[in-house]
Amino acid sequence: MEQQGITKAKDIVCSGIRPTGNLHLGNYFGALRNFVAMQEQYDCFFFVADYHSLTTHPAPGSIYTDARRIMAQYLACGVDPEKATLYLQSDLPETAELYLFLNMNAYLGELERVTSFKDKVRSQPNNVNAGLLTYPTLMAADIIIHKATRVPVGKDQEQHLEMTRTFAQRFNSMYHTDLFPLPQAMGAPTGGLVKIPALNGSGKMGKSEGEASTVFLTDEPDVIRKKVMKAKTDSGPTEPNQQKPEEIENLFNLMRAVSAPDTVQHFDTLYNSCQIRYGDLKKQLAEDMVAFVEPLRQRILEFEADEPRLRRIIDAGRDKARASAVKTLAEVRAAIGYRN
Ligand code: TYM
Repeated sequence: MEQQGITKAKDIVCSGIRPTGNLHLGNYFGALRNFVAMQEQYDCFFFVADYHSLTTHPAPGSIYTDARRIMAQYLACGVDPEKATLYLQSDLPETAELYLFLNMNAYLGELERVTSFKDKVRSQPNNVNAGLLTYPTLMAADIIIHKATRVPVGKDQEQHLEMTRTFAQRFNSMYHTDLFPLPQAMGAPTGGLVKIPALNGSGKMGKSEGEASTVFLTDEPDVIRKKVMKAKTDSGPTEPNQQKPEEIENLFNLMRAVSAPDTVQHFDTLYNSCQIRYGDLKKQLAEDMVAFVEPLRQRILEFEADEPRLRRIIDAGRDKARASAVKTLAEVRAAIGYRN
């Protein structure tokens, strides 16, 4: 954009996904769909968060294979290495250095209050490691290392983004600098941050909700059909325009994501007039999910099969991402007072 002879730089976008299992519809509608939209307009950095995945202790030796598989899934969903910088988090050791600096100004009380940390303390009491506690500072380092201002994520990451702003602001005031802008979480262009529900009637779709209630982009059609047909429902509405219980509202929300608006409208009308048959609703939802996922699944298989191409993309992304990270780290070190 030209303004009185000055070229205004594009906004910088950054986001990542952990390589813990295959990507699912929650990842797609919460994050990836927006990666694809934003790469057209902004200067984008998208990475596979393969440092973050260490908090849950993946099997030794599997980490690069897992990360590469997620990279294939990014590509299959339409993230384009010609338009965005695609890389592995562990290819930027500068992130670990910035994480160290940020940790010096991150306090136990605020880290312990983070909802995702409290959830992990509950779900994995035998592995409450320091990496889990400082998960938000590593995430802040990922984002501010590129001076990103927009971060496409799902609703569950909102609190982490708040903390990123806190840490960035704290660094700026501690070292009397304006090095870091304060980034915002971004959702769908029309509307706020997205939360895709699980199929089991409660909570968000995700790996921790279990395989049965999560639809993966790698699921074969019959697997999807089985999962959807097993989704929890109730005995049906007893009076017109009754409020939908959570498990039914969730099915409608999933339908809003994958089905045509008039399909949603059709079942909504049936629900409101107490004529709905959940079996029909689930069959339709299953077919619409299959139609949505199957082309992605096929493309994932193609990208996964071309190892040399994946490697070329990951290498080229590393070089571009590092140039940005190295530049910021030199400024960070100078601001703190280290020699460069
Ligand atoms: P992760 O790997 O848990 O999830 C990746 C992205 O998918 C979104 N998401 C969902 N959105 C809507 N509905 C759901 N059911 C759902 N499940 C997952 C998440 O909100 C996220 O956007 N901490 C991050 C990874 C990360 C990161 C970053 C993200 C590391 N560094 C820097 C942004 C910027 C995470 O664990 O996401």
